[in-house]
Amino acid sequence: MLTSLAILTLVLDGNYGMYVWPCSPVLAQYIWYHRASLKGKTILEIGAGTSLPGIVAAKCEATVILSDSSEYPQCLADCAASCEANNLSNIPVVGIKWGQFTPELLNLQPVDIILGSDCFFDTKDFEDIIVTVAFIMKKRPSTEFWCTYQERRKRKRGKADEKNDNYGFKLNLGQMCNTV
Ligand SMILES: C[S@@+](CC[C@H](N)C(=O)[O-])C[C@H]1O[C@@H](n2cnc3c(N)ncnc32)[C@H](O)[C@@H]1O
Repeated sequence: MLTSLAILTLVLDGNYGMYVWPCSPVLAQYIWYHRASLKGKTILEIGAGTSLPGIVAAKCEATVILSDSSEYPQCLADCAASCEANNLSNIPVVGIKWGQFTPELLNLQPVDIILGSDCFFDTKDFEDIIVTVAFIMKKRPSTEFWCTYQERRKRKRGKADEKNDNYGFKLNLGQMCNTV
């Protein structure tokens, strides 16, 4: 029987990756809603932090890889702590810094779904995120990118849309994102 219970450890820390951001339960709920299609899929979570969506995907019998910036060992440790708290010992945690073509990214296996919860929070990172996602998608063109972001200011057509245009993406705003 599938269980939706996920245990996460939260640490009071200035780093963004140490909290469950509101986008995270929204994406986790979306994953749970689509759980029937996840069994046997390979899923990578980027900028995972406390990793709630990835943990829920693993509990839905997907093969999950968690990642956060290689420059934030504390966040990578946080990903590992979430796996441990949920008795998921076989989940690899890899350091992937958006926009950097490191061996970890180059050697990454093709994935079916990329998860990104609240990665689009600083416009300076948008192009790096899209570059990384586009590179992973090139390995398997059917790869989907499921992401949630928070509207922290009134949304106009802006920088994220221009970056997406440049890399052939179309930003498709779902209902659930708008409820955050
Ligand atoms: C706002 S937090 C979101 C964390 C988690 N996904 C959530 O929704 O609760 C942004 C995450 O992106 C990670 N991050 C920030 N800059 C990054 C970069 N350049 N490359 C990869 N990850 C990065 C942070 O460490 C953090 O875990």
